[in-house]
Parts: sequence; structure tokens; C-alpha cells
Amino acid sequence: MMKNHEKTYTTKANFMLHGGDYNPDQWLDRPDILADDIKLMQLAHTNTFSVGIFAWAALEPEEGVYNFEWLDEIFNNIHGMDGRVILATPSGARPAWMSQKYPEVLRVNGARVKQLHGGRHNHCFTSEVYREKTQKINRLLAERYGNHPALLMWHISNEYGGECHCEKCQHAFRSWLKEKYDNDLKALNDAWWGPFWSHTFTDWSQIESPSPIGENMVHGLNLDWRRFVTDQTISFFENEIVPIKELTPDIPITTNFMADTHELIPFQALDYSKFAKHLDVISWDAYPAWHNDWESTADLAMKVGFIDDLYRSLKQQPFLLMESTPSAVNWHTVNKAKRPGMHLLASMQMVAHGSDSVMYFQWRKSRGSSEKFHGAVVDHDNSSENRVFKEVALVGQTLEKLSDVVGTNRPADVAILYDWESNWALNDAQGFGLETKRYPQTLQQHYKTFWEKDIPVDVITKEQDFSSYKLLIVPMLYLVSEETIARLKTFVANGGRLVMTYISGLVNEHDLTYLGGWHKDLQEMFGMKPVETDTLYPSDKNYVSYRNQSYELKDYATVIELAAAKTEGQYEQDFYANTPAVTSHEYEKGKTYYIGGRLEDAFHREFYQELINELALQPVVSVKHEMGVSVQVRQAPEQDYIFIMNFTEEKQPIVIEDHLKDLVTSAELTGEFTLEKYEVRILEKARNHTR
Ligand code: GLA
Ligand code: GLA
Repeated sequence: MMKNHEKTYTTKANFMLHGGDYNPDQWLDRPDILADDIKLMQLAHTNTFSVGIFAWAALEPEEGVYNFEWLDEIFNNIHGMDGRVILATPSGARPAWMSQKYPEVLRVNGARVKQLHGGRHNHCFTSEVYREKTQKINRLLAERYGNHPALLMWHISNEYGGECHCEKCQHAFRSWLKEKYDNDLKALNDAWWGPFWSHTFTDWSQIESPSPIGENMVHGLNLDWRRFVTDQTISFFENEIVPIKELTPDIPITTNFMADTHELIPFQALDYSKFAKHLDVISWDAYPAWHNDWESTADLAMKVGFIDDLYRSLKQQPFLLMESTPSAVNWHTVNKAKRPGMHLLASMQMVAHGSDSVMYFQWRKSRGSSEKFHGAVVDHDNSSENRVFKEVALVGQTLEKLSDVVGTNRPADVAILYDWESNWALNDAQGFGLETKRYPQTLQQHYKTFWEKDIPVDVITKEQDFSSYKLLIVPMLYLVSEETIARLKTFVANGGRLVMTYISGLVNEHDLTYLGGWHKDLQEMFGMKPVETDTLYPSDKNYVSYRNQSYELKDYATVIELAAAKTEGQYEQDFYANTPAVTSHEYEKGKTYYIGGRLEDAFHREFYQELINELALQPVVSVKHEMGVSVQVRQAPEQDYIFIMNFTEEKQPIVIEDHLKDLVTSAELTGEFTLEKYEVRILEKARNHTR
């Protein structure tokens, strides 16, 4: 299959961006420090800074009174060192005068409590006043800096998230619903299963957003509310960028996405697959808790890779690492410093998966307030001699050698499908195991097999084109519309391999179950139907026998009624012992697989290895290594850039067959060598064949 190796430059920079959030507005009375910043930035081998993220009070200290002079100076100083500015709009936090004069900008929470001024990321996303004020300040920023030679990109607001339940938002929600249901209240009642608990609405004005003190059990309402929150956030964003698009149409726009951090899964609260369509560049803030005491470094690295591959696949182009910490964060229970070497390794992993930057929160540690001990490039000692600063400088020096990697892609033959809406609906579902659904983690478990085997994976969303993949894996796709079912069917009919699991295909886009058993098209494609889902206690033991091996089952077992499918594995215990647990079915030119139980990693390794062999899926380059080493590749038209990364605490033996050039040392490398703990090597290979 031909895959696209063309480069995609998402910004005008043809070098790797290195830098981060710079908050000079915290230091305006210290010109000595601002001068030191510029010197230190060069010593740290940095080149790009996100400025103005929370600077509204410095830019507009009184309503209509503006102060841009300090920002002019910052722009000029950064430009003076040949640096670039990613200019932020300040809507992530607002000045006190605004909340005081216009209380409508304050958010109201689900319990209908109006929040006080303070904190950040807490505006009402419907407020006309807040929308007008953000547009005004954004226009002034675009007018003043739109033609500045240092301006590289727009950073709209900061980490959009949260929701507001004020009267304006209720009104907007009702209007959104009227539009969605074509002004037909019966259609809404039908979609929301209105007669349940007498929840039929007889007037639009009766509808309220979900609330802990009111309605929260109507799944159709919950799902529509979450969709509305995404749409209203995008609508707020679209309002912000009106003057920016008008005045600077050639400057790309991003906003920084997040992840949910304890277990490191994709951010749950907004449907980024929708948001991505409004952005020129995807960027995200990655804060993996390295060296934690609940998982191996390799397992955590795998999860980072998963999110990278999801966010990269949203636009099928390189993304940016917008924030990371050079050392510790300040918001875990235990804030551990990155061990020596981890900063370079973690940074290069982001690049390996498609980032064209390594950026930090933040450049200089604050002196006061809650982030004064959050890791930063420049510590309170103002020194370029401490360990953290030196490791940052090393990342900078390394990135300077990687300019050719900028814009390169990661073509993949395997895709895993991630769906925000399905996850929302699944989490709402009262049933199965309430604590064990763990949809994102389940996808990460499937991803893990490919990560271990160095086979590139796209993590795609449902509206994307499936046709270029040989293998599509859709674990726990609980909510699936008839439209998606039809697209999956076409994919298989045309020769694709499709893997589905337990708890898939149960409800439609309104979170209403399919009637008459599993959807007939799914039954036809899979040659079977799931008839019962059993939930297991942690102490329950069951196994699936597959290829003469016994694999442990946890949490879920689907009882399957076979039609034309072939049994590949069987349950060993319980009332469904000796019935099918894993099935396969040839459907038109393709083939489907259904995995009925939640099985251990060893099963996935065995199961997917067969598919890997059959489909001749291969790593881009052959590198022999032990578990915990990851090899990821970015591909240019003529070159492969190979990142070999040791995510273990031991030395690791590596064997390569090709002759590869080390991009950092320029040395040629072949045969056997050793990677030290947390070491990364970046190698280049001229490509003489098209995959
Ligand atoms: C109670 C209620 C029913 C139903 C069941 C569910 O018995 O009376 O309406 O909700 O719980 O178990
Ligand atoms: C987020 C925010 C930053 C900062 C960091 C701290 O990513 O965007 O402003 O608070 O968290 O980790």
C-alpha cells in the first residue's frame, strides 16, 4: 500500500521549536531579570516562546486602558535573538475589574452556584460581554503584532475546558437542541426515552442542563449536553479568532489540548475530534508522571505514545508539544524530579511520535503563588549551571540537529479507533462493572502490542477515512451509529480486517439500544451475535483457551451465539465453558474478529502476531531489542528517522542490521550496541524502497 511520505510544515519554521510559556508580565519591575532571560534563552538553545497566556491584567489594567509597551519590548527582544513568538490570546484568565463590573462573565457550576472571581479557566462561554471583550483584545493584539517578523503562530486561550450552567447557557443549550431536533419536541423526547420516570417534556423551557441537584440520569440529555459543551467551547473559540483570521490569515492557529493526567489517557471533557477541524495545528500539554510507583516506565511511555498517535492522527500531520515540565510538576500528590536522562528521552519520544517542538511550562519559575515550585527552565537561582538547565540545553542542542525531521509523517497500516462520544455514553451506562469499563485504558492495552513490536499505529476517530488501513481495531465501541456500522461494513467488504470486542455496538447515537439483538449488519459481518455480557468480580477466575494456551480473563465475558463464524478461542469455566470466546469470520473480501472477553496482554501478543504475519505488517526498520525499548520512526520522502529509546532502568542490548547514521554524533552505526538506562539514539537511514 502506498503511503504518503511528503512533508507537512504546519508553521513557517523549518526547525524544531524549543522554548515554552514565557510570562514576563510577572517580572515587569525587574528589567535585570528580563535581560537575563534573553541571555539564558540562548544558553538553553531555545528559540520560541508562548507569550501573553494569562496577561490580560497587564495588557488592559483598566477597562479600555491598554498597555502594550512591555509586550512590544518582549517581541523585539525575542526577535533580536532570532527567536519566534507564539502569541496567546489572554482569555484563559481575566482581570478583576471585568468580573466586578460584568458578573455575567463568571461561571455557574452544575449545582447552579455562581463562582466568585479568581483562579482561571472559569469564564461563561456564552456571555456576550466576555465574547465581546475577548474579540476586542484579540483584535488589538492582531493589529499590533500581526506583521511582526517574530510572530510564528497564535495560541488561542489556554487549555479550554469546563462548562457553565448559567441562564444564558441554558438558553443557548435549548436553542442548540431546537436546531438539532428541528424544533420537534417529540423527536427530542423520543431520542431521550422521555416516558422513563415521567421525563417527557411538554415545553422547551422545561429543559435544564444535567445537574447534581436535578436531572442526571437521562442518558440522551447527558450526551447532548456534552456535545453542546464541545460545540459551545468551539463557538467561543471561533468568536475569539474572528479578528485574527481577518487580520492575519497566514498565521496558523492552535490551542493547547490536554490529557487526563493520573493514568494518562486522552482528555475526556471535550470531543477533540470536532475541535481539531477548527485548528491549523494540534498542540498538547504532556505531563506524564515519570518514575511513579504504580506502573513501569515502559507502560507509561506506551500511554504517551498512544495519546501522541491519537492527537497526531486528528489531522494526520505533525503536532506540537506545547507544554511539558523540564523537571517536576506541582500538582501530583508526589512531585518527583525527572531522573537524569529522562528529560531528553521523554522529549525525543514526543518528536519520535510526530511533534515538531519541545516546549515547556514554563521558562522561568514564578516567585509567588501556586506555581512557584513547578519545574521550569530557569530556577530561582537564575543559573545556567544547574542540572535541569543543562538537560534542557542538551535537548536544545539535540533538536538543532533534527531540522530535517520537521514536517515528516508516520504512515501506518494499522488503526485503532477512539471515540469520545462512545466513551461518554459508556461511562454513563449503569451496568456492566461500574468501575471497570475503562475504555481509554482498554484501547491502550490493544495499542501496547503494536508499540512493543514497533509497528506504527494511527489512533483515528470515526469520521476519518478507513480505507488506507489493512487492520482496524475498534475495542469497546459501545455507541455506534448506523452510519458508522455501514462504513465499517464497507471497510471489511473491501478487504479490511476488523477487530471488535465485548461491549461494542450496543447503542446508537442517542444512547438508545438497538432492538432485535445485535445490529443485523454487525451480525452479518461477524457471523455471530453477542447475547449476554457477564461481569466478573476481581476474585472470579476464568480463562480462554486459544491456540492450546490458556489466557486469563478479567472483568467481562460475552456469551456468543455462533452463526457462520469460526470459533478461535473458548471459555474454560462457568456456565459458558466450552463456548466461543474469540471468533473470526470471512466477510466478502475481508475478515472480522470478535474478542468476547477482557484478556491479558499475553493473549493480545499471540492474537495480533498472527494478524501481523498474515498482513505482513512490519516495523519500518528492523531493530532487535528487549521489552521496554521502543523504536519509532518518522518518514521523509527519502529518509527514515529512527528513534531508539530505552524506557527501562537497565542497560539494553540493541542489534541493527542496516548501516545507520547517528544524527547527533554523525557516527555510523551497525551491528550490536548498548543503550544506557533512559538513553535515546536518533538514527537516519536513506530509504531505497517504498512500503
Ligand atoms: C427499585 C425501583 C425500580 C427500579 C429498581 C432497579 O426497586 O423501585 O423502579 O429502579 O429499583 O433495581
Ligand atoms: C497547564 C497550564 C499551565 C500550567 C501547567 C502546570 O498545562 O496550561 O499554565 O499551569 O498546567 O503543569
